[in-house]
Amino acid sequence: MTRRLQPSSVEATDVLGGRVDGNFVRVLTRLLAAHAMAEKLTAAGYERALENITRPELSAIIHKNLAEEHKHATLIYEALAEIGVSEVQADRCLVTALKGPAFAAPRHFAEHSAGELDLVMAAVSLDMTGLLMIGVNYRESSYAPHARAAEVILQEEEEHDLFASNVLRDAAERLGAESVNTALREWLPRAVNFFGPPGSGFTFDCITYGLKARDNKEIADLYLSLLERRVHQAGLDMPNITRDYPHGLA
Ligand SMILES: [Fe+2]
Ligand SMILES: [Fe+2]
Repeated sequence: MTRRLQPSSVEATDVLGGRVDGNFVRVLTRLLAAHAMAEKLTAAGYERALENITRPELSAIIHKNLAEEHKHATLIYEALAEIGVSEVQADRCLVTALKGPAFAAPRHFAEHSAGELDLVMAAVSLDMTGLLMIGVNYRESSYAPHARAAEVILQEEEEHDLFASNVLRDAAERLGAESVNTALREWLPRAVNFFGPPGSGFTFDCITYGLKARDNKEIADLYLSLLERRVHQAGLDMPNITRDYPHGLA
């Protein structure tokens, strides 16, 4: 796969002025819609966590992360609005995808997360993964507004990732390795599926247009190796997952 467009080489005016082909716009719109939705569901999950978790040390950080996830979603919806796509239109193009495995982790966080352990797992499954997707793929996007938004989001996601790492270690100490291991087995397949299917036609188009740098599988593998180190450092067990997408427990 070869990249056709250089990082930050396309602006909204190029899209509006018809200087990029129609398929580029279609692929860009879908990619931004998926990014915005992931941020929005993560914000909804943090909002839910705020209702369920009262420990002051945690609720202060949940408040901060919630505000930042809202801001991330807004940034991406604004980028969509710039090319004439409303939030409702963006969300509508994801109706089918939302029911699939790639959105299971953010949806679970937004719709079902219950307590502290789910918050820890969501941070590991959404903030840590988001940092990789945005850092590896979107920071060097050919679409300049997405690259600029990624730069802003990344600064905050680095802190969310640190939070994820800290709460995982704390949870192992406070709640015991066994309960955290059980939660990891439940969440890990979902977390890995969040990267999306390997080798899809959509990702092929994204890479060709310079909207992504790497295939989903490459980033998923990177995530697994980083997480494995973290899990072992916390004295926990890394679950085995099935090889093929959508992943389950092996
Ligand atoms: Fe975010
Ligand atoms: Fe985050």
